[in-house]
Amino acid sequence: TTASGRGTPARRPLPDAPFLAAARGETPSRVPVWFMRQAGRSLPEYRELRAGTPMLAACTDPGMLAEITLQPVRRHGVDAAILFSDIVVPLRAAGVDVDIVAGTGPVVANPVRSDADVANLPLLDPDQVSPVADGIRLLLGELADTPLIGFAGAPFTLASYLVEGGPSRNHERTKALMHAAPATWHALLDRLATVALTFLNVQVAAGVDAVQLFDSWAGALSEAEYREFVLPHSAKVLGGLADAGVPRIHFGVGTAELLPAMRSAGADVVGVDWRLPLDRAAARLRAAAPEAAEPVVQGNLDPAVLFAGSSVVAEQARRVAAEGRAAGGHVFNLGHGVLPDTDPDVLTRLVEVVHEQPVR
Ligand code: CP3
Repeated sequence: TTASGRGTPARRPLPDAPFLAAARGETPSRVPVWFMRQAGRSLPEYRELRAGTPMLAACTDPGMLAEITLQPVRRHGVDAAILFSDIVVPLRAAGVDVDIVAGTGPVVANPVRSDADVANLPLLDPDQVSPVADGIRLLLGELADTPLIGFAGAPFTLASYLVEGGPSRNHERTKALMHAAPATWHALLDRLATVALTFLNVQVAAGVDAVQLFDSWAGALSEAEYREFVLPHSAKVLGGLADAGVPRIHFGVGTAELLPAMRSAGADVVGVDWRLPLDRAAARLRAAAPEAAEPVVQGNLDPAVLFAGSSVVAEQARRVAAEGRAAGGHVFNLGHGVLPDTDPDVLTRLVEVVHEQPVR
């Protein structure tokens, strides 16, 4: 590794890690499981460490981001760590006036709506996220044989926050820009794809073992809109990592109709929410690309089911695992992130139940 952390990847060889085996399309030694948003407010040790530190400050403090990333690995015995960060970290690092407001989400001071706004949107210099690379290097020394997943927000989901100025139910300003000013739209998404790819390249160079591109809100689009206005830009991000040597996961919520398109953007693993059983998701992927490798899916236990009591959770986990076996390749996860009020002991027990399930 160079002093700056760029150049030769520092990645550890982890040939037996169940998560990486499954993500590569091989048969893992057990059903791998990790949880989106496994780090965070469900954990008392997180709330204690974060007290008094703003979210985005925590994301750029190497020691703190490393410790928060490790907390759910120690507690639950999950098969992968996910870098503690946020989709807006590279935007903020590049100089965009964006903050995370507790209970709301990302809030952007000057929404991006015109050609001039797009032209003024700064690109990311890798040095601006060097604290993240430093945190990854700390993590690699602590994680032993647990893989580390890096991530970025996909161009559409980032654009939604930038255009709306904050979280949005209907994404109306975003869709209006997309349809009424397509040249402006494509210029915006191209810039955001560059930012996401730069951020992911920094993470890969620092040593992450896999990456996930979160297009959380892509399910708001029709397939036609997705293919015309979003797919080329997500393909730029995922295609830019084709030779990075790490599995690429692509996830969104409510994307049952988009799964083949999202895979074709360059995903090795396709994340699925709880609305579509995993075997049916895999059948859709197979039918859309019969010549491609066997699909690998990730998901998809409804995070709300974790509030229904241990026997329901175990029964639903067995169902998801069975549907995952029928799908072919499977990484167990929730259908979206851990909800903040989730009892962490339920997650620990869920990991045990998943690890008891047969792989084939
Ligand atoms: O999965 C993990 O454990 C890694 C942590 C992670 C965070 N954000 C930490 C976080 C990940 C993967 C993200 C990605 C992210 N951020 C997405 C994509 C994933 C998804 O959930 O769909 C999105 C859409 C965001 C934007 C965002 N940031 C939202 C909607 C929120 C929640 C706002 C709130 O308070 O309810 C955030 C803030 C955020 N990101 C928190 C955490 C732990 C909560 C901040 C806190 O602890 O105060």
